[in-house]
Amino acid sequence: MCGIVGYLGVEDAREIIISGLKRLEYRGYDSAGIALRKCDSGTFHIYKDKGRVARLEEIADFSFKTCLGIGHTRWATHGVPNKVNSHPHQSEKSRFFIVHNGVIDNYKELKSEILNGNKFVSDTDSEVIAHIIEKYSDEMSVNEAIRKTMSLLEGSYALAIIDTYNRDKIYACKNKSPLLLGLSDKGTIISSDVMALVGYSTKYVPLKDKTFVEITKKGYKTLDIIGKEVEHEVKVIDVDYFNIEKGEYSHFMLKEISEQPSVIRTIISKYFDKEEVTLNGDISKAIKESDRLYIIAAGTSMNAGFIGKELFEKMAFIPTEVHIASEFAYNMPLLSKKPLFIFISQSGETADLRAVLVNIKAAGYRSLTITNVKTSTLAREADHYVEIHAGPEIAVASTKAYTAQIVVLAILAYGQSDKHINLRKELSKVAISIENIIDKREYIEALVQEYLTKRNCFYIGRGIDYYACLESSLKLKEISYIQTEGFAAGELKHGTIALIEEDTPVIAIISQRSIGKNTRSNLNEVQSRGAKTLVISTNSVHEHGDQIVLDDVYELFSPLLTIIPAQFIAYYAALQRGYDIDKPRNLAKSVTVE
Ligand code: M6R
Repeated sequence: MCGIVGYLGVEDAREIIISGLKRLEYRGYDSAGIALRKCDSGTFHIYKDKGRVARLEEIADFSFKTCLGIGHTRWATHGVPNKVNSHPHQSEKSRFFIVHNGVIDNYKELKSEILNGNKFVSDTDSEVIAHIIEKYSDEMSVNEAIRKTMSLLEGSYALAIIDTYNRDKIYACKNKSPLLLGLSDKGTIISSDVMALVGYSTKYVPLKDKTFVEITKKGYKTLDIIGKEVEHEVKVIDVDYFNIEKGEYSHFMLKEISEQPSVIRTIISKYFDKEEVTLNGDISKAIKESDRLYIIAAGTSMNAGFIGKELFEKMAFIPTEVHIASEFAYNMPLLSKKPLFIFISQSGETADLRAVLVNIKAAGYRSLTITNVKTSTLAREADHYVEIHAGPEIAVASTKAYTAQIVVLAILAYGQSDKHINLRKELSKVAISIENIIDKREYIEALVQEYLTKRNCFYIGRGIDYYACLESSLKLKEISYIQTEGFAAGELKHGTIALIEEDTPVIAIISQRSIGKNTRSNLNEVQSRGAKTLVISTNSVHEHGDQIVLDDVYELFSPLLTIIPAQFIAYYAALQRGYDIDKPRNLAKSVTVE
């Protein structure tokens, strides 16, 4: 994971790098660091520490002008988050400074085979890279030394490199981890994401894997690993992408929960012409020609995938499987004859998904990515992509991307169905019903105070409600740290019911007529064992005493509603405990390591 930013130009490097890193904190925020060149003397200075990027503002010397630098915000993989393990790392003789995003799988072998005898100060895999570059730069040009190092590294990397002997240049290279160049007439920015370019560049160059870049005041040169110049496309940044302020809201998560009705309306405006769906015909064709869909995803996106399975199977009668990306990558099941792979990823950068995409592409299978970031790796590398138009999602806990993914999946499934519902009308109804829930959020806040009093909690449901429980429990656990599981209601009695004790909170989701009664029996079972139960139901299946009753919508769309109180439950549980809601511990928004 981690975010990197580098800058060379006539503006203040320190300001551009620190503000860029703040925007990249979604990639990791357990430590941060920066290396800067003083404009007048040309000396280099490193500031780094455990903690958020804001810490750099406390420790960095602001008294001198800077025109070149590299910075890093970390999500620890190798070595605990502390000052020594923070980036930038230096080579043994301190000639090179590097910041790294990714994981070097063979760093131990490189240490013993190439760097035997070198002294390392950190526990990271990254430090090795700086040492190897320095070793080879004794025998060849820096340009060659970095490319030779690239050829030895196994794993993923995006690197920004300073050579203190070449004070007017920055080098960069990448493989698997994202990296791009932001361009302006005042300088060049290196960044993991366009987010860091806000206010400085309007154009950018996404870099291909195994690319090496040399940046000077005059511009940049991109080479492949053997030193041949390679062309890269220059793209214009989508200004909508920069709508990333909290505004009147106390947290991005609250803002993003509240944006869900407008996100649904945006998706309708993008994919409908009057009542008709207007999706790229090639995508419909790819779905139609396949005999089975394989949804590959992780976390919240996988939970959206489960709802997608229901939609494809029940609306369009297409057999659909949902797979955990990190499992599928190394344990592929037997496939059908004509599979279509659907990758669902808010960020479009999740490394576990990319590992699968690389494999299935090599095997000649077709792929479609559903993502919020059309410039992302998974969007670029799949045969097709569909954008979910949720707008930037900043809070680590995914909310509006989940509902947007489901809406897009519904549109895709509907395209293959007998069109027995008026989709546009049904989705518009959902948007209004979500607004009704948002209006009642203070009531949900009070319920949280009353019911979520323990260290643990269960969500139970059946069928599509069970899938909604999986996402509801993920939301609650990731930001409130309450140990929560989403359970198939009928399965509880086969073991897990042993965990129910006096006042254990059990939240049931009941939106389906056919199975509501069964879930209620399971609720009785836990109540008899002391559980404190809370029911989220829809109007037509509700019973007296249910605490949260939602509007009726088309049955397969109920997860778009039942998740909203669950998002608020998570939000208020975290708020009442005083936790950092937008940046929960140990997590990062974009998971770019396997
Ligand atoms: O960017 P992606 O959708 O591929 O990310 C997948 C998961 O890491 C992500 O959904 C994660 O589970 C969320 N933070 C949960 O809120």
